[in-house]
Amino acid sequence: MPVENVTEKESAVPGEPVLPDVAVNLVRPTAPVIGRVVESELCTLGKRKSAAFIRHVAIDVSGTALAGQFRAGQSFGVLPPGEDAKGKPHKLRLYSISSPTRGEDGNGNVLATSCKRVLDEHWDDHKLFTGVCSNYLCDAQVGDEINVTGPSGKRFVLPEEPSKHDYVFFATGTGIAPFRALAIDLLEGGFNSRVTLVMGSPYTTDLIYHEQLVELDKQYDNFRYVTAISREVPDDQDRKLYVQDRIQHDTLGTGPGSLTEQLASDRTLIYVCGLAGMEMGIFKGLYAVLGREGASGYVRVDDEVADDLKSWNKKMINRQIRPTKRVFLEVY
Ligand code: A2P
Repeated sequence: MPVENVTEKESAVPGEPVLPDVAVNLVRPTAPVIGRVVESELCTLGKRKSAAFIRHVAIDVSGTALAGQFRAGQSFGVLPPGEDAKGKPHKLRLYSISSPTRGEDGNGNVLATSCKRVLDEHWDDHKLFTGVCSNYLCDAQVGDEINVTGPSGKRFVLPEEPSKHDYVFFATGTGIAPFRALAIDLLEGGFNSRVTLVMGSPYTTDLIYHEQLVELDKQYDNFRYVTAISREVPDDQDRKLYVQDRIQHDTLGTGPGSLTEQLASDRTLIYVCGLAGMEMGIFKGLYAVLGREGASGYVRVDDEVADDLKSWNKKMINRQIRPTKRVFLEVY
């Protein structure tokens, strides 16, 4: 039989992961279960010095169908009480789980998230806008009951055999939540995988779970936690420092142990969570340091745009610029 031509788009990617089958939607919005808030703490490094209010909210779901059923990287749903402006019950909101698979308690009974209060102005009358669910969740006191659902998401989890891979995680803001979970699963799981977490915040005071991540970095030789603080760059530098800039401007340079070196390995998987603008920056960064061939394990680029990075724009993603299965994206 003639062998069909394999196009670049279809050709196999070395190091492509196999994902596990994970349980989803065990508890649906039509029949939520009741969880109880057991902890609510500001989780930014600066606490009240940060302009943002971001809370680590932990919810006990023991005795419900959610107990022991969520995995690092998944989300859960919250049904806020009350009705919207049209008199309809408020819709479900999803929050990334920041707890490892063992839960906050070690038995899969307590899940947590990092929730940022949405506070804004209405564009027409400049009156205060407060996000319904984020403020409901951040207002909740220890002991309060919350209607929860889930788990959600099959794609942003660890592969079936975690030790076959190394990991680079890119987060901005509350996009850190799933990475706290995934990193703890990997480190406590005793896998020898290298894990690098790059976290972007406007100011140092806005870093989330920072102290715990610094501790993990000290405790585990195979874990590196790197920050990119966008608004604290010295005046003589003409641009902000974003997470993707760490690909080329790692504190370890480009040598052994650096992010660039790790990204050059076929074992490495990239996970991205946070602002959508990051993905293009990361593809460009990979291309800049690894070249088209070296970056092809992560991103396949059509010939007509391959040599013109300046022309790349977000509309090209999944068309002329296609991430491979070694890239996991959860961007908004
Ligand atoms: P900046 O806002 O200074 O431009 P938060 O969610 O806490 O606001 O943090 C988001 C972080 O991501 C900020 O440091 C923000 O920088 C940064 N950021 C903004 N746009 C991008 C982008 N296109 N790529 C990567 N990081 C970005």
